[in-house]
Amino acid sequence: MIRLATVQFTPRLGEREANLEAIRVLLDPVEADVIVLPELCTSGYFFVSREELAPLAEAPGGVACAFFQRLAEAKRAIIIAGMAEAAGGSFYNSVFVFRPGVTEPLVYRKAHLFYKERFVFEPGDTAFPVIRDERLDLSIGIMLCYDWRFPEVSRALALGGAELVACPSNLVTDAWRKVMPARAIENKVYVAVANRCGTETRGGETLLFKGCSAVYDPWGEAVALADAEGDAVLLAEIDPRPCRDKSFNEFNDIFADRRPELYGAICRKR
Ligand code: ACM
Repeated sequence: MIRLATVQFTPRLGEREANLEAIRVLLDPVEADVIVLPELCTSGYFFVSREELAPLAEAPGGVACAFFQRLAEAKRAIIIAGMAEAAGGSFYNSVFVFRPGVTEPLVYRKAHLFYKERFVFEPGDTAFPVIRDERLDLSIGIMLCYDWRFPEVSRALALGGAELVACPSNLVTDAWRKVMPARAIENKVYVAVANRCGTETRGGETLLFKGCSAVYDPWGEAVALADAEGDAVLLAEIDPRPCRDKSFNEFNDIFADRRPELYGAICRKR
């Protein structure tokens, strides 16, 4: 069994040191093989200009990367953290994956930008990653928050072998609570949603982040669930083996039964 920790907390906008300290304190007693943190967990979310984002955006070798790499080594854990990324004069809303013994983090750049993110971030240009870890015998797919509205993303990850889909999040709507379990069922994978809570107000507009972080099993049941408010580390033991068999009765298999040759063929009739 794999020990999964899914972290919910309330980042403070613009306060990287305070956010790293909050993460350090939350994770101090935690023993886990995989740790998932929210989107933009070191910076906060609601940026209104690239200028204010710039000093908080990370590149491999930055302050937060060094912090997470040290933590990954100390805990012998894979750490999946949403952070603003600076690269080539642009900014991306990214997920960094830190692995013990691997010095360079893997980076996924958010493909689908939500709401006003487009004013500060570039749309992602990386492939959707599936990370195979032989030590844990686990394949982890990565998506980021609003990617959930696109079933193609979790399907692509599952087809790529993901058994756990990790989804760092800053969710401000409610529909995802119905849909994330469906993403788990339709792909027969675990889905870990690490959401944040609290509010951020900019220019008279307030965003309320909805908490309720959760781990869904391959049958769509919540095996761990946080409240709408308050910091929490959800601990769940997950077994990737059922995710490798996509059948659900003796005749049906959700991958073998796919008909991709028909999915682009729409017959319009009046
Ligand atoms: C979101 O993508 N932060 C909803």
